[in-house]
Amino acid sequence: MTGPAPATATKPHWISPSILAADFARLGEEVTDVLDAGADTVHFDVMDNHYVPNLSVGASVLRALRQYGVTAPVDVHLMVRPVDRIIGDFIDAGADYITFHPDATESVRDSIQRIHESGAKAGLALSPGVPVSELQPVLDDLDLVLVMSVVPGFGGQSFMPESLDTVRAVRRRLDETGSGARLEIDGGINVDNVGPAAQAGADMFVAGTAIFGTDDYAKTIQSFRSALVG
Ligand code: DX5
Ligand code: ZN
Repeated sequence: MTGPAPATATKPHWISPSILAADFARLGEEVTDVLDAGADTVHFDVMDNHYVPNLSVGASVLRALRQYGVTAPVDVHLMVRPVDRIIGDFIDAGADYITFHPDATESVRDSIQRIHESGAKAGLALSPGVPVSELQPVLDDLDLVLVMSVVPGFGGQSFMPESLDTVRAVRRRLDETGSGARLEIDGGINVDNVGPAAQAGADMFVAGTAIFGTDDYAKTIQSFRSALVG
């Protein structure tokens, strides 16, 4: 048989609800509920009204979630510039993964090193249109690659189907290099496109609106799981 091997993701699928779509007035309760409903990790979107034209929450809110009793892995997605100064704040507050965008720092390599030295896992995010080759110099150092399936800045946007090509290209690079990094897809993910995203090679799925916008989180997450195996 010739041709490329099909995209394979050998890691368990992780569903990572984005806090951006939660009720911020009851954030501890919302995050606890969604984890009790079967979510694997918490996606913590940080926006600075500078790198993206929107403002969300900072490290003190993550600290409050930890103090509230949230023990699940927290996947921090920094949409801020510059990233270096703020990395320590999120690690002190309890981040497990810290992901940033390559054009938001002077040195991608140094920022990754800073994350690793503090004991967290490092991710790099690709916005739509950013070439996969951006990953190349640091691919071996990454614990996670995040493919954006919307333009970063706002929740509730429509999924961009062309992002699946990027997921496939990243999956190929990860497999070729033997990297064990997770491949996360973020933006407009719902029960209809989560299966195709997994087929393309993603193993971690961010969903804000499609989870927090429903009444029964357990039922919604179960339908995601069914779509992921189906
Ligand atoms: C967009 C954020 C995403 C997004 C997810 O800038 O990084 O995490 O808010 O929310 P939905 O699933 O509503 O697109
Ligand atoms: Zn995000």
